[in-house]
Amino acid sequence: MGMSLFGQNASPNGATIEVPTGFATHLRWIPRLGDIFPNFSIPYGDGEFHFHDWAEGSWVYFFSHPQAETPVCSTEIADVAAHGDELARRGAKALNISTDSAEVQQAWIAEIERIFGVTVDFPLLSDPEGRVVSVCDMVHPHEDALLCVRKGFIIDPSLRIRMIFEYPLNVGRDFEEVLRVIDALRATDHNDLVAPGGWMPGDPLMVSPALGTAAARDRFGARLRVLNPYMRLLQPPRTR
Ligand code: BEZ
Repeated sequence: MGMSLFGQNASPNGATIEVPTGFATHLRWIPRLGDIFPNFSIPYGDGEFHFHDWAEGSWVYFFSHPQAETPVCSTEIADVAAHGDELARRGAKALNISTDSAEVQQAWIAEIERIFGVTVDFPLLSDPEGRVVSVCDMVHPHEDALLCVRKGFIIDPSLRIRMIFEYPLNVGRDFEEVLRVIDALRATDHNDLVAPGGWMPGDPLMVSPALGTAAARDRFGARLRVLNPYMRLLQPPRTR
């Protein structure tokens, strides 16, 4: 159960977000790996968007951008939209948020679709009062007092935060890295494997330090290549 940080009465049409219990109200919660992403509700279209209802059961790429109708942000939204099939293939979906108004977002989406020839079919949430984006540590005052940084979360189907990254206002993100990390998490979760630096799907994985070499030999047999006690490569299964 979370604590309701912002009462409905304070702002009848605004966003609400629940932070985990166990945090005193005078301490600021900062999202960290392994945390359950807080539930939040925010006006969307003619209704309300409820984050946990929408996200649970899927991999989610939740990302903020600084401002609509700017060059880098336009390319980032187009890049995510162009990879819609790649997300769906992984059981993943995208969600964007910013402090732009919903009206500005709608006009901007139409322009992105026109220029880049894509369909933007994931939600862009509007948080003009900055309630959700500030609790989720998407505004960094030394970067900009009002605009979001380019923050990205990968959230797993049980709503846990599995990756966090932050880019400055003037550098756009590479969406291929988001897909690579989702692939790496899916390939290594719950099996004592880890993905080495630069890993791409089809490359060998490695055995986690948590699993001894004898146990790894028992489990993986001839696919295991032991270089030393801590560098143990697992060749991918042969495909014909
Ligand atoms: C951009 O997306 O191009 C951008 C947005 C805010 C500040 C600087 C650049």
